Amino acid sequence: MIGCGYVGLVTGTCLAEAGHQVVCTDNDSERIAALKAGVVPIYEPHLDALLSANCRSKNLSFTSNAAEAVRASEAIFICVGTPPLANGEADLSAIDNVARLIASEALTPKLVVEKSTVPAQTGQQLKRVLGVYRRDGGEEFRVASNPEFLREGTAVEDFLHPDRIVLGVEEEATERQLREIYRPILERDFRCPVHLGACPPTKSPELLITTMNSAELIKHASNSFLAMKISYANMIADLCEKVGANIKEVTRAMGLDPRIGPRFLDAGLGFGGFCLPKDIQAFIRLAERSGVDFSMLKEAERVNKRRVDVLLEKIRKALWVVKGKQVGILGLAFKANTDDIRFAPSLEIIRALLAEGARVSAYDQEAMDKTSAILPQIHYCRDPYEAAKDVDALLILTEWDEFRHLDWGRISDLMVRPTIIDGRNLLDPAAMMERGFEYYSFGRPMENPTLSAVLGHAARSSSATAQANLPS
Ligand code: UGA
Repeated sequence: MIGCGYVGLVTGTCLAEAGHQVVCTDNDSERIAALKAGVVPIYEPHLDALLSANCRSKNLSFTSNAAEAVRASEAIFICVGTPPLANGEADLSAIDNVARLIASEALTPKLVVEKSTVPAQTGQQLKRVLGVYRRDGGEEFRVASNPEFLREGTAVEDFLHPDRIVLGVEEEATERQLREIYRPILERDFRCPVHLGACPPTKSPELLITTMNSAELIKHASNSFLAMKISYANMIADLCEKVGANIKEVTRAMGLDPRIGPRFLDAGLGFGGFCLPKDIQAFIRLAERSGVDFSMLKEAERVNKRRVDVLLEKIRKALWVVKGKQVGILGLAFKANTDDIRFAPSLEIIRALLAEGARVSAYDQEAMDKTSAILPQIHYCRDPYEAAKDVDALLILTEWDEFRHLDWGRISDLMVRPTIIDGRNLLDPAAMMERGFEYYSFGRPMENPTLSAVLGHAARSSSATAQANLPS
């Protein structure tokens, strides 16, 4: 396994749990030293325990000697980062470096599996580089594409219980080898750390054998579709606000149509993280370079970028003057159950609030260390209640489950002014207003007719609003 980021660590650890001998390497020697000492550099449920157990059983090991890892392996999974370049294209330099390393260090035939998210046709280039840089008279390489669909926060569960496993292969031998690697997952022949031996009786995963180009495209097409689905829901939410409808009612009914499906229709602040934003950009560039007008992707991206402004506009409407106000933030991570803040909307919102002269206090279960390293100027809190203390407005920016079940009476008493701006539509507007909060969310009519009038919302009739405003 080359690359000990999210995908590399989860893939390596889960394949070790599935009974394979896995050695992981990374060019970040500090990261490898930490992993050898049992310190997992990311927060991901179940990963720590699984990693330690497999290190103890000697199925999993870490080395900073990449050449050694290459020589020891029959199959090499490339799991390095492909961050966006300034023009939005994926930076493939890490893949290129790893390919040259494998080519020059391999002493026996290897299967090289591309697991990093890459644009279509990267596998062909990878094969070419491996051939060009191989030792004189050195071994032939086989290449495959095996995109990963795991989500941060549920990565271990997603890897061990996937909906589908996609293998982009060119030879039967490669297909056989990869089928064997994934056999324990397909046959559920592993100790499941998530369900502790009582896995729900879901369908077994589909194994799809495709060409390499298709496999690569499947990954970008899937992430871009999810991104479009979220942007679509967000536009419907904006429309709901204008016509006095309720986004929760609309998306629930839409999602009951199996052709649409209920997931990824949650409106709010939009998509962040290191995958959807960068993958939609890379897909846009791939389409452009291929001469295909895929402008609907550009629109989905534009809608998403505007979500932060939509939230800031709600803050300005609620507070009137932002300068000099104290704002509390609940949630910094780009989504719940992770400490990842890459492309997290919270960062942009905090920067904008500071630029407008607000003071900011924040709380997140897992992401405060990473955030304080880049935004040291705000106050980090022990718990949500400290974040609410003496603030003029409290913002919910991450969908952590904990925020659904806070003691709102206590929070109201702590705040200077009980104003909540819920960027993830976590709470029930009617219940919050009953508790005396001025409550703002996305695509749900405002309950307070006076405020609706002041803010120019379409939902002017309180009876119509009350009717539309069923519990979320
Ligand atoms: C995403 C994909 O969902 C995975 O299938 C894929 O494997 C992964 O990228 C990857 O390429 O590695 P992830 O980045 O972990 O996974 O996060 P998502 O669960 O997709 O959420 C992305 C963002 O969308 C989050 O900020 C989340 O808050 C937001 N979101 C999600 C919404 O705003 N609304 C929704 O309905 C769902």
